[in-house]
Amino acid sequence: MRAQTVLLFMLGVSNWASPAMALPSLLGRRDDTTSYSFTANSHRNLAVYYGKTAISQQTNLTTQCSDPDIDIVILGFLLNVLGPGNLPTMALNNTAGDLCEEPNASMLAANGTGMRRCADLQSQIVACQSLGKKVFISLGGAKGTQTFASQADAEQAANVLWNLFGSGADMNPSLRPFGQSVTVDGFDIDNETGDGSYYAEFVAKLRALTNSQSAKPYFLSASPSCYYPDGGAGSPVAMLTQMDFVWPQFYGAPSCNIGTSGFNESLTAWSSRLDAGNKPRLYVGGVSWEDGTTTGGYVAPQELNQTILSSVETVGTSRFGGVMLWDAAYGHVTTDPQTGLDIIGVAKQSLLISLARRQEDPAGGLKVVLGITAAVGLSRFL
Ligand SMILES: *[C@@H]1O[C@H](CO)[C@@H](O)[C@H](O)[C@H]1NC(C)=O
Ligand SMILES: *[C@@H]1O[C@H](CO)[C@@H](O)[C@H](O)[C@H]1NC(C)=O
Ligand SMILES: *[C@@H]1O[C@H](CO)[C@@H](O)[C@H](O)[C@H]1NC(C)=O
Ligand SMILES: *[C@@H]1O[C@H](CO)[C@@H](O)[C@H](O)[C@H]1NC(C)=O
Ligand SMILES: *[C@@H]1O[C@H](CO)[C@@H](O)[C@H](O)[C@H]1NC(C)=O
Ligand SMILES: *[C@@H]1O[C@H](CO)[C@@H](O)[C@H](O)[C@H]1NC(C)=O
Ligand SMILES: *[C@@H]1O[C@H](CO)[C@@H](O)[C@H](O)[C@H]1NC(C)=O
Repeated sequence: MRAQTVLLFMLGVSNWASPAMALPSLLGRRDDTTSYSFTANSHRNLAVYYGKTAISQQTNLTTQCSDPDIDIVILGFLLNVLGPGNLPTMALNNTAGDLCEEPNASMLAANGTGMRRCADLQSQIVACQSLGKKVFISLGGAKGTQTFASQADAEQAANVLWNLFGSGADMNPSLRPFGQSVTVDGFDIDNETGDGSYYAEFVAKLRALTNSQSAKPYFLSASPSCYYPDGGAGSPVAMLTQMDFVWPQFYGAPSCNIGTSGFNESLTAWSSRLDAGNKPRLYVGGVSWEDGTTTGGYVAPQELNQTILSSVETVGTSRFGGVMLWDAAYGHVTTDPQTGLDIIGVAKQSLLISLARRQEDPAGGLKVVLGITAAVGLSRFL
Protein backbone atom coordinates (compact mmCIF):
# COMPACT_ATOMS: atom_id res chain seq x y z
CA MET A 1 0.00 0.00 0.00
CA ARG A 2 2.69 2.38 1.07
CA ALA A 3 4.95 1.47 -1.81
CA GLN A 4 2.08 1.93 -4.26
CA THR A 5 1.36 5.37 -2.92
CA VAL A 6 5.02 6.29 -3.26
CA LEU A 7 5.09 4.88 -6.78
CA LEU A 8 2.06 6.90 -7.82
CA PHE A 9 3.50 9.94 -6.16
CA MET A 10 6.80 9.51 -7.98
CA LEU A 11 5.03 9.08 -11.31
CA GLY A 12 2.99 12.15 -10.52
CA VAL A 13 6.14 14.07 -9.70
CA SER A 14 7.93 12.95 -12.81
CA ASN A 15 5.01 13.70 -15.09
CA TRP A 16 3.70 16.93 -13.61
CA ALA A 17 5.51 18.63 -10.82
CA SER A 18 8.92 18.02 -12.29
CA PRO A 19 8.26 19.49 -15.74
CA ALA A 20 6.19 22.23 -14.17
CA MET A 21 8.81 23.21 -11.66
CA ALA A 22 12.18 21.73 -12.51
CA LEU A 23 12.04 22.12 -16.29
CA PRO A 24 11.27 25.82 -16.41
CA SER A 25 13.84 26.45 -13.72
CA LEU A 26 16.43 24.48 -15.68
CA LEU A 27 15.51 25.48 -19.21
CA GLY A 28 13.22 28.46 -19.00
CA ARG A 29 15.00 30.44 -16.32
CA ARG A 30 18.49 29.09 -16.43
CA ASP A 31 21.26 31.38 -15.28
CA ASP A 32 23.79 29.80 -17.59
CA THR A 33 22.86 31.76 -20.71
CA THR A 34 26.16 30.85 -22.36
CA SER A 35 24.75 27.37 -23.00
CA TYR A 36 21.82 28.75 -24.98
CA SER A 37 21.49 27.87 -28.61
CA PHE A 38 18.60 28.83 -30.84
CA THR A 39 16.51 25.99 -32.27
CA ALA A 40 14.49 26.97 -35.32
CA ASN A 41 12.53 23.73 -35.20
CA SER A 42 11.64 24.09 -31.56
CA HIS A 43 8.02 23.90 -30.47
CA ARG A 44 8.53 26.36 -27.67
CA ASN A 45 10.15 29.53 -28.98
CA LEU A 46 9.04 32.92 -27.80
CA ALA A 47 9.28 35.88 -30.18
CA VAL A 48 8.64 39.48 -29.13
CA TYR A 49 8.37 42.72 -31.03
CA TYR A 50 10.43 45.56 -29.66
CA GLY A 51 10.84 49.26 -30.34
CA LYS A 52 7.50 50.66 -31.26
CA THR A 53 5.33 50.99 -28.17
CA ALA A 54 5.22 53.99 -25.83
CA ILE A 55 7.36 52.47 -23.06
CA SER A 56 10.07 50.93 -25.26
CA GLN A 57 12.64 53.41 -23.93
CA GLN A 58 12.02 52.20 -20.38
CA THR A 59 13.83 49.00 -21.30
CA ASN A 60 16.29 48.08 -24.06
CA LEU A 61 17.13 45.45 -26.63
CA THR A 62 19.87 43.83 -24.53
CA THR A 63 17.42 43.32 -21.68
CA GLN A 64 15.11 41.39 -24.02
CA CYS A 65 17.94 39.18 -25.24
CA SER A 66 19.21 38.56 -21.70
CA ASP A 67 15.79 37.29 -20.69
CA PRO A 68 15.98 33.46 -20.79
CA ASP A 69 12.30 33.38 -21.74
CA ILE A 70 12.90 35.18 -25.05
CA ASP A 71 14.35 33.56 -28.18
CA ILE A 72 13.68 36.07 -30.96
CA VAL A 73 13.42 39.87 -30.85
CA ILE A 74 11.80 41.55 -33.85
CA LEU A 75 12.70 45.21 -34.29
CA GLY A 76 9.84 47.31 -35.60
CA PHE A 77 9.48 48.85 -38.09
CA LEU A 78 10.67 49.75 -41.53
CA LEU A 79 7.67 51.61 -42.98
CA ASN A 80 8.90 50.83 -46.48
CA VAL A 81 12.05 49.69 -48.26
CA LEU A 82 11.96 51.85 -51.35
CA GLY A 83 11.40 55.23 -49.69
CA PRO A 84 13.30 58.50 -50.30
CA GLY A 85 16.43 57.81 -52.36
CA ASN A 86 15.02 54.29 -52.97
CA LEU A 87 16.18 53.55 -49.43
CA PRO A 88 14.12 52.45 -46.41
CA THR A 89 12.01 54.68 -44.22
CA MET A 90 12.94 53.57 -40.72
CA ALA A 91 10.60 54.13 -37.81
CA LEU A 92 12.29 52.41 -34.88
CA ASN A 93 10.60 54.98 -32.71
CA ASN A 94 7.67 55.73 -30.47
CA THR A 95 6.15 58.71 -28.75
CA ALA A 96 9.13 58.92 -26.41
CA GLY A 97 11.57 59.23 -29.28
CA ASP A 98 13.79 57.29 -31.61
CA LEU A 99 15.93 54.23 -30.86
CA CYS A 100 18.25 55.48 -33.62
CA GLU A 101 19.95 58.71 -34.56
CA GLU A 102 19.21 60.95 -37.53
CA PRO A 103 20.51 59.84 -40.95
CA ASN A 104 24.20 60.61 -41.20
CA ALA A 105 26.03 62.40 -44.01
CA SER A 106 26.48 59.22 -46.07
CA MET A 107 22.76 58.49 -45.91
CA LEU A 108 21.78 62.08 -46.71
CA ALA A 109 24.18 62.18 -49.65
CA ALA A 110 22.17 59.29 -51.11
CA ASN A 111 18.88 61.16 -50.45
CA GLY A 112 18.02 58.62 -47.75
CA THR A 113 16.15 61.07 -45.58
CA GLY A 114 14.03 58.25 -44.10
CA MET A 115 17.14 56.35 -43.01
CA ARG A 116 18.52 56.21 -39.50
CA ARG A 117 21.97 55.58 -38.05
CA CYS A 118 21.53 53.14 -35.15
CA ALA A 119 24.82 53.07 -33.23
CA ASP A 120 23.20 52.16 -29.92
CA LEU A 121 21.15 49.32 -31.39
CA GLN A 122 24.19 48.15 -33.32
CA SER A 123 26.12 47.26 -30.16
CA GLN A 124 23.02 45.76 -28.58
CA ILE A 125 22.42 43.51 -31.60
CA VAL A 126 25.98 42.27 -31.17
CA ALA A 127 25.27 41.64 -27.47
CA CYS A 128 22.11 39.71 -28.38
CA GLN A 129 23.89 37.57 -30.92
CA SER A 130 26.68 36.78 -28.47
CA LEU A 131 23.95 35.33 -26.24
CA GLY A 132 22.73 33.20 -29.15
CA LYS A 133 19.49 35.17 -29.51
CA LYS A 134 18.09 36.10 -32.91
CA VAL A 135 17.29 39.67 -33.94
CA PHE A 136 14.97 40.29 -36.89
CA ILE A 137 13.99 43.52 -38.59
CA SER A 138 10.37 43.93 -39.53
CA LEU A 139 8.85 45.57 -42.55
CA GLY A 140 5.37 46.99 -42.20
CA GLY A 141 3.40 47.52 -39.02
CA ALA A 142 0.13 49.37 -38.87
CA LYS A 143 1.66 52.32 -40.74
CA GLY A 144 3.54 50.32 -43.36
CA THR A 145 3.35 51.74 -46.87
CA GLN A 146 5.38 49.37 -49.06
CA THR A 147 3.52 48.20 -52.15
CA PHE A 148 5.10 46.80 -55.31
CA ALA A 149 4.19 47.79 -58.86
CA SER A 150 6.15 44.99 -60.51
CA GLN A 151 8.33 41.97 -59.89
CA ALA A 152 11.39 44.12 -60.63
CA ASP A 153 10.28 46.55 -57.93
CA ALA A 154 9.86 43.70 -55.42
CA GLU A 155 13.25 42.23 -56.25
CA GLN A 156 14.93 45.60 -55.94
CA ALA A 157 13.45 45.95 -52.47
CA ALA A 158 14.74 42.50 -51.51
CA ASN A 159 18.20 43.53 -52.72
CA VAL A 160 18.12 46.74 -50.70
CA LEU A 161 17.12 44.91 -47.51
CA TRP A 162 19.78 42.29 -48.04
CA ASN A 163 22.51 44.85 -48.69
CA LEU A 164 21.62 47.19 -45.84
CA PHE A 165 20.74 44.68 -43.10
CA GLY A 166 21.99 41.29 -44.30
CA SER A 167 25.22 39.95 -45.74
CA GLY A 168 24.89 41.69 -49.11
CA ALA A 169 27.88 43.71 -50.30
CA ASP A 170 26.49 45.31 -53.46
CA MET A 171 25.66 48.70 -51.98
CA ASN A 172 27.74 51.42 -50.35
CA PRO A 173 28.44 49.99 -46.86
CA SER A 174 28.30 53.50 -45.37
CA LEU A 175 24.55 53.32 -45.82
CA ARG A 176 24.14 50.42 -43.39
CA PRO A 177 22.12 51.60 -40.36
CA PHE A 178 23.63 49.02 -37.98
CA GLY A 179 27.19 49.54 -39.20
CA GLN A 180 29.32 47.84 -41.76
CA SER A 181 29.75 44.43 -40.11
CA VAL A 182 26.53 43.85 -38.17
CA THR A 183 23.85 41.75 -39.83
CA VAL A 184 20.38 40.89 -38.60
CA ASP A 185 19.31 37.24 -38.33
CA GLY A 186 16.02 37.51 -40.10
CA PHE A 187 13.45 39.53 -41.96
CA ASP A 188 9.85 39.80 -40.82
CA ILE A 189 6.86 41.01 -42.79
CA ASP A 190 4.15 42.43 -40.60
CA ASN A 191 0.66 42.75 -41.95
CA GLU A 192 1.51 45.35 -44.62
CA THR A 193 -0.85 47.59 -46.46
CA GLY A 194 -3.56 45.20 -47.54
CA ASP A 195 -2.04 44.99 -51.04
CA GLY A 196 0.04 41.83 -51.32
CA SER A 197 0.93 42.21 -54.99
CA TYR A 198 4.39 40.79 -55.74
CA TYR A 199 5.02 40.01 -52.06
CA ALA A 200 5.54 36.33 -52.98
CA GLU A 201 8.19 37.43 -55.51
CA PHE A 202 9.72 39.78 -52.94
CA VAL A 203 10.09 36.94 -50.43
CA ALA A 204 11.33 34.49 -53.07
CA LYS A 205 14.12 36.94 -53.94
CA LEU A 206 14.95 37.48 -50.29
CA ARG A 207 15.11 33.71 -49.79
CA ALA A 208 17.38 33.33 -52.82
CA LEU A 209 19.69 36.01 -51.41
CA THR A 210 19.87 34.42 -47.96
CA ASN A 211 20.54 31.05 -49.62
CA SER A 212 23.33 32.56 -51.71
CA GLN A 213 25.65 32.51 -48.70
CA SER A 214 26.45 29.98 -46.02
CA ALA A 215 28.10 32.16 -43.40
CA LYS A 216 25.08 32.00 -41.14
CA PRO A 217 21.43 31.02 -41.23
CA TYR A 218 18.85 33.71 -41.97
CA PHE A 219 15.19 33.35 -41.11
CA LEU A 220 12.05 34.72 -42.72
CA SER A 221 8.83 35.34 -40.83
CA ALA A 222 5.44 36.93 -41.30
CA SER A 223 2.73 38.30 -39.08
CA PRO A 224 -0.54 38.38 -40.99
CA SER A 225 -3.87 39.22 -39.44
CA CYS A 226 -5.62 36.03 -38.26
CA TYR A 227 -8.67 37.24 -40.13
CA TYR A 228 -8.41 35.31 -43.39
CA PRO A 229 -8.81 35.53 -46.34
CA ASP A 230 -10.28 39.06 -46.33
CA GLY A 231 -7.98 40.49 -43.69
CA GLY A 232 -5.11 38.61 -45.27
CA ALA A 233 -5.30 40.25 -48.66
CA GLY A 234 -1.86 41.69 -47.99
CA SER A 235 -0.40 38.30 -47.07
CA PRO A 236 -0.85 35.85 -49.94
CA VAL A 237 -0.45 32.18 -49.03
CA ALA A 238 2.21 31.93 -51.73
CA MET A 239 4.25 34.34 -49.65
CA LEU A 240 3.46 32.81 -46.26
CA THR A 241 4.43 29.26 -47.20
CA GLN A 242 7.94 30.44 -48.08
CA MET A 243 8.51 31.55 -44.50
CA ASP A 244 10.25 29.76 -41.63
CA PHE A 245 7.82 31.13 -39.07
CA VAL A 246 4.35 32.58 -39.33
CA TRP A 247 2.83 34.28 -36.28
CA PRO A 248 -0.69 35.36 -37.15
CA GLN A 249 -2.03 38.16 -34.99
CA PHE A 250 -4.86 36.57 -33.03
CA TYR A 251 -5.83 40.03 -31.82
CA GLY A 252 -7.38 43.06 -33.38
CA ALA A 253 -9.63 40.76 -35.40
CA PRO A 254 -12.88 40.06 -33.50
CA SER A 255 -13.81 36.90 -35.43
CA CYS A 256 -10.58 35.04 -34.57
CA ASN A 257 -9.10 36.77 -31.51
CA ILE A 258 -7.69 34.74 -28.63
CA GLY A 259 -10.49 34.31 -26.13
CA THR A 260 -13.26 34.12 -28.74
CA SER A 261 -15.14 31.08 -30.00
CA GLY A 262 -13.62 31.64 -33.44
CA PHE A 263 -10.03 31.27 -32.26
CA ASN A 264 -9.74 27.51 -32.34
CA GLU A 265 -11.26 27.16 -35.79
CA SER A 266 -8.99 29.90 -37.11
CA LEU A 267 -5.91 28.29 -35.59
CA THR A 268 -6.80 24.95 -37.18
CA ALA A 269 -7.33 26.67 -40.54
CA TRP A 270 -3.97 28.41 -40.24
CA SER A 271 -2.29 25.12 -39.47
CA SER A 272 -3.56 23.46 -42.65
CA ARG A 273 -3.05 26.62 -44.74
CA LEU A 274 0.63 26.61 -43.84
CA ASP A 275 1.11 22.88 -44.40
CA ALA A 276 2.67 23.51 -47.82
CA GLY A 277 5.86 24.84 -49.36
CA ASN A 278 8.45 25.46 -46.68
CA LYS A 279 5.89 24.40 -44.02
CA PRO A 280 6.54 27.30 -41.70
CA ARG A 281 6.16 26.78 -37.99
CA LEU A 282 2.91 28.26 -36.71
CA TYR A 283 3.14 30.55 -33.67
CA VAL A 284 0.21 31.95 -31.73
CA GLY A 285 0.46 35.74 -31.88
CA GLY A 286 -0.93 37.50 -28.81
CA VAL A 287 -0.90 40.90 -27.22
CA SER A 288 0.88 41.44 -23.91
CA TRP A 289 -1.14 44.19 -22.25
CA GLU A 290 -4.73 45.11 -21.83
CA ASP A 291 -4.62 48.37 -23.78
CA GLY A 292 -2.56 46.84 -26.58
CA THR A 293 -5.60 46.53 -28.78
CA THR A 294 -8.92 48.30 -29.02
CA THR A 295 -10.43 45.48 -31.04
CA GLY A 296 -9.88 42.58 -28.65
CA GLY A 297 -7.53 39.67 -28.29
CA TYR A 298 -5.89 40.48 -24.98
CA VAL A 299 -6.43 37.85 -22.32
CA ALA A 300 -5.01 37.71 -18.79
CA PRO A 301 -1.81 35.67 -18.30
CA GLN A 302 -3.53 32.53 -16.97
CA GLU A 303 -6.03 32.55 -19.83
CA LEU A 304 -3.13 32.91 -22.25
CA ASN A 305 -1.54 29.93 -20.50
CA GLN A 306 -4.66 27.82 -21.17
CA THR A 307 -4.78 29.07 -24.78
CA ILE A 308 -1.18 28.02 -25.34
CA LEU A 309 -1.71 24.60 -23.75
CA SER A 310 -4.77 23.88 -25.92
CA SER A 311 -3.13 25.34 -29.05
CA VAL A 312 -0.23 22.91 -28.80
CA GLU A 313 -2.78 20.10 -28.63
CA THR A 314 -4.73 21.46 -31.59
CA VAL A 315 -1.77 22.12 -33.89
CA GLY A 316 0.55 19.34 -32.76
CA THR A 317 4.25 19.69 -32.07
CA SER A 318 5.35 18.96 -35.62
CA ARG A 319 3.67 22.21 -36.76
CA PHE A 320 3.55 24.37 -33.65
CA GLY A 321 6.48 26.74 -33.15
CA GLY A 322 5.68 28.81 -30.08
CA VAL A 323 4.26 32.19 -29.17
CA MET A 324 4.72 35.72 -30.51
CA LEU A 325 3.88 38.66 -28.27
CA TRP A 326 3.27 42.27 -29.19
CA ASP A 327 5.23 43.61 -27.47
CA ALA A 328 8.32 43.11 -25.31
CA ALA A 329 8.24 46.28 -23.20
CA TYR A 330 4.63 45.86 -22.07
CA GLY A 331 5.18 42.11 -21.68
CA HIS A 332 7.42 42.83 -18.71
CA VAL A 333 4.95 45.08 -16.90
CA THR A 334 1.90 42.82 -17.23
CA THR A 335 2.19 40.45 -14.31
CA ASP A 336 0.24 37.38 -13.34
CA PRO A 337 -1.11 37.68 -9.79
CA GLN A 338 -1.16 33.89 -9.46
CA THR A 339 2.53 33.24 -10.17
CA GLY A 340 4.10 36.69 -9.91
CA LEU A 341 5.64 36.12 -13.34
CA ASP A 342 5.35 38.60 -16.16
CA ILE A 343 3.17 37.53 -19.08
CA ILE A 344 6.28 36.67 -21.12
CA GLY A 345 7.39 34.32 -18.36
CA VAL A 346 3.94 32.74 -18.12
CA ALA A 347 3.87 32.17 -21.88
CA LYS A 348 7.33 30.57 -21.86
CA GLN A 349 6.55 28.30 -18.92
CA SER A 350 3.33 27.33 -20.58
CA LEU A 351 5.24 26.29 -23.70
CA LEU A 352 7.68 24.25 -21.65
CA ILE A 353 4.97 22.56 -19.60
CA SER A 354 2.74 21.80 -22.58
CA LEU A 355 5.51 19.89 -24.25
CA ALA A 356 6.65 18.00 -21.19
CA ARG A 357 2.99 17.13 -20.76
CA ARG A 358 2.88 15.58 -24.20
CA GLN A 359 6.13 13.78 -23.34
CA GLU A 360 7.47 14.65 -26.78
CA ASP A 361 10.03 16.94 -25.32
CA PRO A 362 13.31 15.03 -24.96
CA ALA A 363 14.07 16.52 -21.55
CA GLY A 364 10.49 15.90 -20.40
CA GLY A 365 10.61 12.32 -21.64
CA LEU A 366 13.88 11.71 -19.86
CA LYS A 367 12.42 12.99 -16.60
CA VAL A 368 9.52 10.57 -16.91
CA VAL A 369 11.88 7.64 -17.51
CA LEU A 370 14.11 8.66 -14.60
CA GLY A 371 11.01 9.11 -12.43
CA ILE A 372 9.72 5.65 -13.27
CA THR A 373 13.14 4.10 -12.67
CA ALA A 374 13.48 5.87 -9.35
CA ALA A 375 9.92 4.95 -8.34
CA VAL A 376 10.38 1.29 -9.26
CA GLY A 377 13.68 1.20 -7.41
CA LEU A 378 12.12 2.86 -4.39
CA SER A 379 9.08 0.56 -4.36
CA ARG A 380 11.41 -2.48 -4.36
CA PHE A 381 13.37 -0.98 -1.52
CA LEU A 382 10.22 -0.36 0.50
C1 LIG B 1 19.81 48.04 -20.66
O1 LIG B 1 19.05 48.18 -19.46
C2 LIG B 1 19.69 47.61 -18.33
C3 LIG B 1 18.69 47.63 -17.19
O2 LIG B 1 18.18 48.91 -17.01
C4 LIG B 1 20.96 48.39 -18.03
O3 LIG B 1 21.62 47.83 -16.93
C5 LIG B 1 21.86 48.31 -19.25
O4 LIG B 1 22.99 49.13 -19.04
C6 LIG B 1 21.13 48.78 -20.50
N1 LIG B 1 21.97 48.50 -21.65
C7 LIG B 1 22.11 49.34 -22.66
C8 LIG B 1 23.04 48.93 -23.73
O5 LIG B 1 21.52 50.40 -22.71
C1 LIG C 1 8.60 57.79 -36.32
O1 LIG C 1 9.33 57.83 -37.53
C2 LIG C 1 8.52 58.04 -38.66
C3 LIG C 1 9.41 57.93 -39.87
O2 LIG C 1 10.53 58.70 -39.73
C4 LIG C 1 7.85 59.41 -38.56
O3 LIG C 1 7.02 59.59 -39.68
C5 LIG C 1 7.03 59.46 -37.29
O4 LIG C 1 6.52 60.74 -37.11
C6 LIG C 1 7.86 59.10 -36.09
N1 LIG C 1 6.99 58.98 -34.95
C7 LIG C 1 7.29 59.47 -33.77
C8 LIG C 1 6.25 59.30 -32.73
O5 LIG C 1 8.35 60.04 -33.53
C1 LIG D 1 19.36 63.28 -54.75
O1 LIG D 1 18.26 64.09 -55.17
C2 LIG D 1 18.67 65.19 -55.98
C3 LIG D 1 17.44 66.05 -56.20
O2 LIG D 1 16.38 65.28 -56.73
C4 LIG D 1 19.27 64.66 -57.26
O3 LIG D 1 19.72 65.74 -58.06
C5 LIG D 1 20.46 63.76 -56.93
O4 LIG D 1 20.96 63.18 -58.09
C6 LIG D 1 20.05 62.67 -55.95
N1 LIG D 1 21.24 61.95 -55.51
C7 LIG D 1 21.30 60.64 -55.50
C8 LIG D 1 22.58 60.03 -55.02
O5 LIG D 1 20.37 59.92 -55.86
C1 LIG E 1 -2.99 45.68 -40.64
O1 LIG E 1 -3.10 46.35 -41.86
C2 LIG E 1 -4.31 47.06 -42.01
C3 LIG E 1 -4.31 47.67 -43.38
O2 LIG E 1 -4.27 46.64 -44.30
C4 LIG E 1 -4.39 48.13 -40.93
O3 LIG E 1 -5.63 48.79 -41.01
C5 LIG E 1 -4.28 47.48 -39.56
O4 LIG E 1 -4.18 48.48 -38.56
C6 LIG E 1 -3.03 46.66 -39.48
N1 LIG E 1 -2.99 45.94 -38.21
C7 LIG E 1 -1.90 45.85 -37.47
C8 LIG E 1 -2.07 45.12 -36.17
O5 LIG E 1 -0.81 46.28 -37.78
C1 LIG F 1 27.28 56.67 -41.46
O1 LIG F 1 27.10 55.50 -40.64
C2 LIG F 1 27.67 54.33 -41.22
C3 LIG F 1 27.39 53.16 -40.27
O2 LIG F 1 26.06 53.08 -39.95
C4 LIG F 1 29.16 54.49 -41.39
O3 LIG F 1 29.68 53.33 -42.01
C5 LIG F 1 29.44 55.71 -42.24
O4 LIG F 1 30.82 55.92 -42.29
C6 LIG F 1 28.77 56.92 -41.62
N1 LIG F 1 29.00 58.07 -42.48
C7 LIG F 1 29.58 59.16 -42.04
C8 LIG F 1 29.77 60.26 -43.03
O5 LIG F 1 29.95 59.29 -40.88
C1 LIG G 1 -9.88 22.85 -31.40
O1 LIG G 1 -10.00 22.27 -32.68
C2 LIG G 1 -9.40 21.00 -32.79
C3 LIG G 1 -9.45 20.58 -34.24
O2 LIG G 1 -10.70 20.85 -34.80
C4 LIG G 1 -10.10 20.03 -31.85
O3 LIG G 1 -9.47 18.80 -31.92
C5 LIG G 1 -10.01 20.57 -30.42
O4 LIG G 1 -10.74 19.75 -29.54
C6 LIG G 1 -10.55 21.98 -30.33
N1 LIG G 1 -10.26 22.51 -29.02
C7 LIG G 1 -11.11 23.29 -28.35
C8 LIG G 1 -10.63 23.79 -27.02
O5 LIG G 1 -12.22 23.58 -28.77
C1 LIG H 1 -0.62 26.84 -16.76
O1 LIG H 1 -1.71 25.99 -16.53
C2 LIG H 1 -1.32 24.69 -16.12
C3 LIG H 1 -2.53 23.76 -16.18
O2 LIG H 1 -3.66 24.39 -15.68
C4 LIG H 1 -0.69 24.81 -14.78
O3 LIG H 1 -0.29 23.54 -14.32
C5 LIG H 1 0.52 25.72 -14.86
O4 LIG H 1 1.08 25.94 -13.59
C6 LIG H 1 0.16 27.05 -15.47
N1 LIG H 1 1.37 27.79 -15.77
C7 LIG H 1 1.71 28.90 -15.17
C8 LIG H 1 3.00 29.52 -15.56
O5 LIG H 1 1.01 29.43 -14.34
